[in-house]
Amino acid sequence: MPVQTGNAASPLAPDWLTVPADLNALHEPMWAGSVQRNDDGVLTVGGLDVAALKEQFGTPLFVMDEADFRARARAFKDAFDAAFQDICGGVDVYYAGKSFLCTAVVKWVEEEGLRLDTASGGELAVAARAGIPGERVALHGNNKSDAEINRALDMGLGRIVVDSLDELVRVGTIAHARGQQAKVMLRLTPGVHAHTHEFIATAHEDQKFGLSMAGDSTDKEGLSAAEEAVAAASAHPGIELLGLHCHIGSQIFEPDGFALAAEKLLRFLAAVQRKYSIELPELDLGGGYGIAYTPVDTPRPAADIATAMAAVVRSTCAELGITSPRISIEPGRAIVGSTTFTLYEVGTLKTVRVDAEGQENVTYPRRYVSVDGGMSDNARPVLYDADYSAILASRTSTASPQLSRVVGKHCESGDIVVRDVYLPEDVAAGDLLAVPGTGAYCWALSSNYNYLARPGVVAVRDGYARLIVRGETEEDLLNRDMGVPND
Ligand code: LLP
Repeated sequence: MPVQTGNAASPLAPDWLTVPADLNALHEPMWAGSVQRNDDGVLTVGGLDVAALKEQFGTPLFVMDEADFRARARAFKDAFDAAFQDICGGVDVYYAGKSFLCTAVVKWVEEEGLRLDTASGGELAVAARAGIPGERVALHGNNKSDAEINRALDMGLGRIVVDSLDELVRVGTIAHARGQQAKVMLRLTPGVHAHTHEFIATAHEDQKFGLSMAGDSTDKEGLSAAEEAVAAASAHPGIELLGLHCHIGSQIFEPDGFALAAEKLLRFLAAVQRKYSIELPELDLGGGYGIAYTPVDTPRPAADIATAMAAVVRSTCAELGITSPRISIEPGRAIVGSTTFTLYEVGTLKTVRVDAEGQENVTYPRRYVSVDGGMSDNARPVLYDADYSAILASRTSTASPQLSRVVGKHCESGDIVVRDVYLPEDVAAGDLLAVPGTGAYCWALSSNYNYLARPGVVAVRDGYARLIVRGETEEDLLNRDMGVPND
């Protein structure tokens, strides 16, 4: 016999998911600052309601709260500046453009006193078009082309973060041939690999990024690749060695991993400064600060992380008897992630009955709610098993909660947007759903699978909405198709 679950938790739901007391309520940490419901129960952002946004721009649509982006950028800058003021005079915050990049965002980043981290020639092109001065831009990448290195040098980049010995020689040679010195940071792998809730302090050498700090990582006895790179960089006429860099992972909540990496890099920095009689004035500790995708995610405020990291930098420098290098960080997700939600329209609905684990002859309902986008505008559930949440946005409802799975419209059964969420059981075709936390690595990872047009991104501020990236048209989709020669 089928069993109705009513308001009770569904046995099909994962352990972490609870039935919300109020399905219409917004769980604050997941949403941009200005998002709320108006008197009619319609979701609004920056004073504009989602029905009006759909009317003007269509769906799917990335909806970004500009004031919230600026506030989060400033919060990082202010918190880290305050915590590190007496250690190294403040912190340079490089917004990691790979998380979401367009010229408008570069402008905001600059206006809020941040810098920009790029990872390809294309991202440099956006930076150049936005007009941010080259000295405020960094370039990353484990396989930079000669063209990308030349472009970085053309733009007078503040730093090129070098990833390998091989690349060090290439950057140095190209810069020297141009009569220039490239400003270089060396990306090291400190053996701290952090992933989401935990970090493991074991050698994490088996990856493509960075120069190993392990003593046996070169042919030369006891010499690490990192040390060999320091020696080579400081001797190369085409290179000005600024300092060291590390990035330990992404979507990390606890500061311990960042602090441990900082300590390891400072010890290494002190040792090579002494051994090679050099000064390394800069240390970049990367990005990776986590955000709330679901109600169980509990990110730390920027100030908490800054304080914990400052304490370690202060005490390690004191113990080593060195002046602290200028510290920089590279947050992406923690600035842009929660500024944005994706607005979808509901289409097809169906309910299936599913066996619950460990129970015989009992099935429970799972509702499939199809929306007009999917894995082409949010690949993260498919790529990383990422969990998201969703809310009925175009109205409120007093209907019972029903365990639902929000799915896209692609020809793929793994095309899931939100794997498990309780939605009101009267959700119907034509309703609008909002999925929060889609500012980072969603538009950036979007595709044209099944020839779906990539959605636009609209920035809302003070009751005014502006497209900062327009959505693709059918014309765009067909533009690169070269046709059939008619001979
Ligand atoms: N710095 C470096 C050198 C990085 O490689 C990254 C991210 C960041 C900074 C920014 O990390 P964030 O603060 O945004 O976590 N596509 C994956 C994330 C890939 C992260 C790549 N590197 C995702 O959607 O979870």
